[in-house]
Amino acid sequence: MMGRQLAVSGATVLTRRRALCMLEVSVHMMKTTCTLRHLFTACNLLVFTFLLLLYLRQPRESTVSHIPNVVDGPFIALADNKTFIISPYSDPRRSNLIRVLAIVHKSVQDLYCLFYCKKNGYFRVRANIDIVKDRFGFPYETADLLCESPPSCDSVYMSIDTNESEDIREAPVFQIPQVPRGSFSAKLSVCISAFYGQYNNPLQVIQAIEMYKILGASRVTIYNNSCHDNVDKVLRHYIEEGVVDVIPWPIDTFLRTSKKWKYVEGLDSEIGYYGQTASLNDCIYRNMYNSEFVVLIDIDEIILPVKHLDWSSLMRSLQERYPGASVFRFENHAFPSSLKGTGFNPWKHVPGTTILQHYREPSDKESIKPRKMIINPRKVFQTSVHSVLKGEGYSVDIPRQYGFLFHCKQKRNKKYSDTDLIKDEIIWRYNMSLVPKVDGVIQKLFPRH
Ligand SMILES: *[C@@H]1O[C@H](CO)[C@@H](O)[C@H](O)[C@H]1NC(C)=O
Ligand SMILES: *[C@@H]1O[C@H](CO)[C@@H](O)[C@H](O)[C@H]1NC(C)=O
Ligand SMILES: *[C@@H]1O[C@H](CO)[C@@H](O)[C@H](O)[C@H]1NC(C)=O
Ligand SMILES: *[C@@H]1O[C@H](CO)[C@@H](O)[C@H](O)[C@H]1NC(C)=O
Repeated sequence: MMGRQLAVSGATVLTRRRALCMLEVSVHMMKTTCTLRHLFTACNLLVFTFLLLLYLRQPRESTVSHIPNVVDGPFIALADNKTFIISPYSDPRRSNLIRVLAIVHKSVQDLYCLFYCKKNGYFRVRANIDIVKDRFGFPYETADLLCESPPSCDSVYMSIDTNESEDIREAPVFQIPQVPRGSFSAKLSVCISAFYGQYNNPLQVIQAIEMYKILGASRVTIYNNSCHDNVDKVLRHYIEEGVVDVIPWPIDTFLRTSKKWKYVEGLDSEIGYYGQTASLNDCIYRNMYNSEFVVLIDIDEIILPVKHLDWSSLMRSLQERYPGASVFRFENHAFPSSLKGTGFNPWKHVPGTTILQHYREPSDKESIKPRKMIINPRKVFQTSVHSVLKGEGYSVDIPRQYGFLFHCKQKRNKKYSDTDLIKDEIIWRYNMSLVPKVDGVIQKLFPRH
């Protein structure tokens, strides 16, 4: 079907003419045989059915052959083996731009967008390769391949090519997602960077997702490289509930990924932290026109309001306080889950750690407090993990008294002894709503025997 919207080749024009000609002759013959008045209606019906059958039988192979399989990403390798396409996105904010998110080797210089126009064949444009410069030092980087969509092309499909003179049939074809019209379907969406290494902490996943829902998230997008069956079961439960979108993230099929975010000489890794930068940028574009705000965090993190109880009222107050801001950065505070005898966990039969902790590590001047963000996606062009690299509006560091990043990490900082830890019961404010919700999901997915 998709081929019909594309350039009509000479061969098809000929077959269509022949079909029309046959059609005229047949209709004429039919009409002459159906002269009786009382047969008129039945005859019209017959003619109509015949026309319909003929229309459906028209050959279309010759047009379809220009559009082989439309691929569905993320991670489509191009012929150079150095460019991996994540997804194209329409970006009409400043011009008629198509922004193709990709991971490219730093040696890649030339890439081309091929637009399949609805009427006049295809159109080739050289891509402007805009690297997401987060300076983590790996040989592969996240990049936006920027191509102006040709005027009056109205293309639904496109290819990315590595060589100007290459046969276009070799290149994979992508469908360009259309910008939806109308209002947002979600006020807040959460973006979680990839689960990897047979990730098996279902208790924390359930608690985190229930917390995001309590705080006001309507959608949670999770990138999935690999997870244990326990977590897979939890994800499937929330997909069914309509809260979670899982994006497959098979990055290690193509690249040697590092568990570290920064490049270490001699470690032979090609990209940092399972392509976290790429997944966060993808998540922004995926949610751009359906969410008012996007929260960029990991599954062991929750941005907690301090003066308010949910994200909507927090964001309303922050927007009043910082008019025109588009990026809101919250400082990290660690609540280690590995402390013996602390934390509330009535679900000991479920693998994983509980987020219901009430000891916070102190943060002295030297301790790193990398921030995580809530952003207005329509004001952001490129993001890194802790800051936005290209955007409109401005970025504010939110003071701790309004909100902070509750980081329920497993490893505790050995620098601090037990007596250094500070009692902080902020998460307990959600106890009454959180505990029964978590309990309900656990009873369904992990019943006690
Ligand atoms: C690209 O990589 C794949 C898998 O490693 C390999 O089979 C293929 O030959 C490579 N292609 C080129 C052009 O190097
Ligand atoms: C592009 O493809 C042509 C024909 O296959 C080849 O001769 C040429 O070297 C290629 N150019 C680059 C830059 O790879
Ligand atoms: C997550 O990824 C793993 C590994 O590819 C896969 O086995 C599992 O089914 C995925 N889970 C979901 C919910 O997509
Ligand atoms: C809340 O927390 C306490 C632990 O301090 C626990 O005993 C109680 O049952 C929890 N649940 C609810 C619903 O209050």
